[in-house]
Amino acid sequence: MDIFAKGIRLVNRMQKILERSLRKFAGPLYRLLQRHSGQRLIKRYANPEDRFSQIYETNHWDEIESVSGPGSTLEETEPLRQKLRELLSEIEASSLLDLPCGDFHWMQHVDLAGINYIGGDLVSKLVDFNQEKHAREGVDFRKIDLVNDTLPLVDIILCRDCLVHLSFADVQSAFVNITRSNAKWLLTTDFPDVTRNYDIVTGQWRPINLMLPPFNLPAPTQIIAENCLEIEFKDKNLSLWSVEELKS
Ligand SMILES: C[S@@+](CC[C@H](N)C(=O)[O-])C[C@H]1O[C@@H](n2cnc3c(N)ncnc32)[C@H](O)[C@@H]1O
Repeated sequence: MDIFAKGIRLVNRMQKILERSLRKFAGPLYRLLQRHSGQRLIKRYANPEDRFSQIYETNHWDEIESVSGPGSTLEETEPLRQKLRELLSEIEASSLLDLPCGDFHWMQHVDLAGINYIGGDLVSKLVDFNQEKHAREGVDFRKIDLVNDTLPLVDIILCRDCLVHLSFADVQSAFVNITRSNAKWLLTTDFPDVTRNYDIVTGQWRPINLMLPPFNLPAPTQIIAENCLEIEFKDKNLSLWSVEELKS
């Protein structure tokens, strides 16, 4: 790595440490700055596909192991990988839509025996990479937009670390889309200790509590505690809802 690239990496790291401290100790200021950077993001990249493609191409989350970021390392997903397999067996799922699948980094280590797996993502290059590297019988990757595309019919939709990147309006559209798909189950990221949800521009990030406004989902049927290694997000769960219940 040349000195220029090293310099950029160092600046990125310092920016992330500063961001984390602001979020923790100066919430209102952090949200104000996030609103400004959201407006800049809209100006620079008109649509979500361009924003997430840019995130992929620049490894924006600065994680060597996975372009899907620090939440997708093997260490971070260790408890999840085992518990997910158990849950799939318990609900007798034979098909799974992993939307978004990101780079399939941790999911490739989940036992998918007996499961027809479809991995979908908004970023074409990521889907092409996965299809070339990981597709096999029963494992397929497609470009799918959670917010706008018709979703394939499956038993369970796993939507990990995605709604946290979407604006309120896009989350609501994603829910409408998921309920239209007639899947039986939705397993998605939720932070039950969050006391108030706030809006962002799609492409940014914040933790969300799906039981609070504007989402108001009922209590989940079951949860998988991720045991997130970042203490600040130790409440991070994958929560399970029957899609039928989301229709009401
Ligand atoms: C933080 S990564 C999470 C990936 C994966 N679920 C995991 O646990 O590793 C977020 C992913 O969401 C994808 N994404 C964002 N908006 C999307 C949308 N509307 N439809 C499908 N994928 C989307 C991005 O391209 C990115 O790959």
